[in-house]
This record gives sequence, C-alpha cells and structure tokens, in this order.
Amino acid sequence: MMDVYLAGGCFWCINMTIKETPGVKDVVVGYSGGDEENPKYEDVKSQKTGHRETIKVTFDENIISYPDLLDVFLLNVDPFDEFGQFIDRGHSYTLAIYYKNEYEKNIASMKIAELENFFNKKAYISIEPFKSFYIAEEYHQDFYKKHKEEFEKELIESGRIKKMTDYKLLNNELKEIIRDVECDISNFANASSLIFNTLDNLNWAGFYLLDNDYLYLGPFQGKVACTKIKVGSGVCGTSVFMKKTLVVPNVLEFKGHIACDSNSKSEIVIPMIKDDKIIGVLDIDSPIFNRFSEEDKIGLEEFVKILLNA
Ligand code: SME
Repeated sequence: MMDVYLAGGCFWCINMTIKETPGVKDVVVGYSGGDEENPKYEDVKSQKTGHRETIKVTFDENIISYPDLLDVFLLNVDPFDEFGQFIDRGHSYTLAIYYKNEYEKNIASMKIAELENFFNKKAYISIEPFKSFYIAEEYHQDFYKKHKEEFEKELIESGRIKKMTDYKLLNNELKEIIRDVECDISNFANASSLIFNTLDNLNWAGFYLLDNDYLYLGPFQGKVACTKIKVGSGVCGTSVFMKKTLVVPNVLEFKGHIACDSNSKSEIVIPMIKDDKIIGVLDIDSPIFNRFSEEDKIGLEEFVKILLNA
C-alpha cells in the first residue's frame, strides 16, 4: 500500500472521483501545505491559512501504479487554472502534488511536463515536499455519499460537471410560445426569458439586432448591457462579420471581447439569419469558464432557426 497527498480543488468532488478508482483503498479529506496547526474548514476556505484542501489517497500499487493514479487525478482537474478550480477560487483550491521522496517528485514532474507538451501551455500544479496533513472535520469525509443532494448541486454549480440541457424540450416549448405571435420583439423577449430560466449557470441572455453597421441591444435578461456594438467588434460583432456561431470558453482570451457584466467568463453568440440575411445575434453569457459545449451550439442554432421561422 502507498499513501499520496493531492490537492485538487474542492475536496468533496475530487474525493469521489479518486475513491471510485479501482485499486484505491481509502481516501481521507483534509488540509496540507500550510504551517498553521489544526486548521479548520472555514479558515482554510476563507484563505486565512496557507493550506490547500487535500486528499490522502491510500492505494494498492499492484492494481494501480502511482503514475496511473496521477493520470486519473490530472484528468479530473483543470491543470491550467492558476488561481483555483472551477467556481472555487483562492490558494486553498489550487492544485498541488505533495511528494515524500525523489521517486514521487520525479514522476509528478514528468506527468506535468507531458501535459504541458501535449497542450502546449503552462500547467499550474505545485510540486511540493509533504509537510503535514490535518484530517478535516467528520462532516466533510465522504461528503458525496452522506449529503447526496447538496453534493450534486455543488458538482453542477461548481462547473465540474455540466447539466445537459434538453434542447428537444426547450425547442418544443419555444414553438408553443411563439405560435400565432406575429411581433418579433415579443417573441425575442419571451425567447430570452426561456433561455435564461432553462439553461443553468447563465448571467445574461438576449438579442442584439442589426441596423446598418451596428448591433443594437434588444430584449434580454440579466444586468444592464451595452446598447451599441459595431459589426466586427466584440464577440457579437465578430459573429455577425463571420456569419457563424462563436463559442468562447474564456472571454479573457478573446481579443476585443466587450465586457458588459464583469461576471461573464464564457460566452456563446449565434447569428440570426433570415432569408439569407443576417438580422442580429443571440448572445448568452455564463459566470463560469467553458460553459458552452457542442450540444449547446447545435441546440441553440436550432432554437434560433425556430424563432426566425415564426
Ligand atoms: N460580450 C459581448 C457584448 C455583449 S454582452 O456580453 C451582453 C461582446 O463581446 O460582443
């Protein structure tokens, strides 16, 4: 049997993944990396100590090797996030592999180098000598088994797993809502409400409508937004210019992104094309990175198509 200490963001979540891995005999959640003695959950969570939420993994090397265990770990975290994991922000949620000997240190360095080479970007996983591990309060041990509902909510809200939207249902609902309604503005208003209240993890959903070279704010749900966007500017203007859907996993990395609500982290913009002419865009923002998938893109393109055939 071998013990290793891994910090993978929220320990409720990473505990489940690792514990369900064949060869893993036990996982205990706790705190490592800081110098304070006997840290408490609230202090670690609010960054009052130098600890990270950490799991102690006991595994049978005859069933799963240390390098393979690290692969499972790395597949279940976001290695490129410098300041936390998913919705959990701050040092206590950053990634670390604590090593007890040269072998563990070398394997960890090798795995991270492999990852960086593959993705061609810097991974933020600290490789540190193991100092201490303080077992967390009983409430947090096997949280995923003991507090199922709260845990599932955390998994979805944290952005670790995405709740799939049933686009068939949503699009059928849209058909009903717009049936026999001739006014576009009324339909766009209801469509923005339908999206905002059906898709999870959104902070803005609405329309920008094209008039000559500018997009003007149309019906929407969310905070007050910018009213005028030039074609070619921002994500919306680029989508019009390119006449295609743009999925932006991280708005900070989109050159020229227009930030209306500083909470927005990812975005999808779908062009509205009627009789071969572009009339505007449907713009949707999320407060978590990487919110929109290929399924969202397909489902929302269909949504816009239905809306425009009304
Ligand atoms: N982010 C958009 C601007 C509109 S707001 O997201 C509501 C853009 O870059 O075009």
